[in-house]
Amino acid sequence: MSKKLHRIAAIGGDGIGVEVVDACLEALEVLAERDGGFAFEVENFDWSTARYKETGAFMPEDGADQLRGFDAILFGAVGAPDVPDHLTLWGLRLAICQPLDQYANVRPTRMLPGIQSPLRGVDRDELDWVIVRENSEGEYAGQGGRSHPGLPLEVATDVSIFTRAGIERIMRFAFGLAQSRPRKLLTVVTKSNAQRHGMVLWDEIAAEVAQEFPDVTWDKMLVDAMTVRMVMNPQSLDTIVATNLHADILSDLAAALSGSIGVAPTANLNPERDTPSMFEPIHGSAFDITGKGVANPVATFWTAAMMLEHLGEQAASDRLIQAVETVTANPDLHTPDLGGQASTRQVTDAVIEAIRGRN
Ligand code: NAI
Ligand code: MG
Repeated sequence: MSKKLHRIAAIGGDGIGVEVVDACLEALEVLAERDGGFAFEVENFDWSTARYKETGAFMPEDGADQLRGFDAILFGAVGAPDVPDHLTLWGLRLAICQPLDQYANVRPTRMLPGIQSPLRGVDRDELDWVIVRENSEGEYAGQGGRSHPGLPLEVATDVSIFTRAGIERIMRFAFGLAQSRPRKLLTVVTKSNAQRHGMVLWDEIAAEVAQEFPDVTWDKMLVDAMTVRMVMNPQSLDTIVATNLHADILSDLAAALSGSIGVAPTANLNPERDTPSMFEPIHGSAFDITGKGVANPVATFWTAAMMLEHLGEQAASDRLIQAVETVTANPDLHTPDLGGQASTRQVTDAVIEAIRGRN
């Protein structure tokens, strides 16, 4: 029987992005060998701030089109201390997500074995969320501009764009995801008291789409009150949907509550599969620890497990998650962000051993 071939585009990017993607590719290779039913064909792209400094562009002009032929994209992080963050974000990450219409950003959060939440007295089963972030419009739609530069009357605008089509598709995705989880519980986050146009449209469309999912229990929260609920009453939440900006912030909070930003994964999905989806840790390029060999690779392993699930390799995905959980359960294999002393290399080796089934 011939093996199924999955074509992966790997973009390490900058800083620890490169380190964790390299670690992840090693583990994926071993997983494929262990499974036997599939193989990866990985193409590495050097799209990064270094490329920008050399050529003036983070990626080629047809970069997003070059990715269309792949089955999935594994992304590290982009950002450098000496280049403004809005250039790096729009030059690479958003330059991929937006043209490939990866409109559903999915961010699972739970406490892995052996990892403590900074929340006192919260058990592992009391914090198990999936945050769905609208990933194509809203506050990050890119509309706006600056006039009168440098003059006293200088003005800058960032216009939020909320479309019926954009809200309906993310709402349907979120209700569907909530329905697929045991608790069938969805919380719709907005700020519809203060933002009285776009956010009110969100609330209205949530109520409409809810009718298609009668078995899903749902409620509404204002984003400020949501931060309180996440901290004070985490067990009351399951699936959460919010706008691009709100979910960006809430998911960093969620990552911290689950123990570290170094373990938090995300998937930028095109649910219709018209284009490849992109999988990445939620953290950035972490200049403070770049090159020290201590970046936590767990977020990237977890996002790779999401990628395997998306590719239809459920058994390999489960094996990878089990391997990661075996490793996190051992405090000697915690990197410094989790209070330990282990290196990226040690954690990667241990995960690979666990995949092979030797520990
Ligand atoms: P960051 O996530 O890079 O780092 C925040 C803190 O968390 C740092 O102390 C860092 O050492 C720690 N940390 C992050 N990931 C870790 C890991 N895997 N293991 C251990 N510790 C980890 O966020 P920051 O500092 O705000 O941004 C740095 C650069 O990354 C900026 O240029 C920013 O624009 C960019 N960035 C890029 C993202 C992306 O490409 N998706 C996402 C977030 C930030
Ligand atoms: Mg963020």
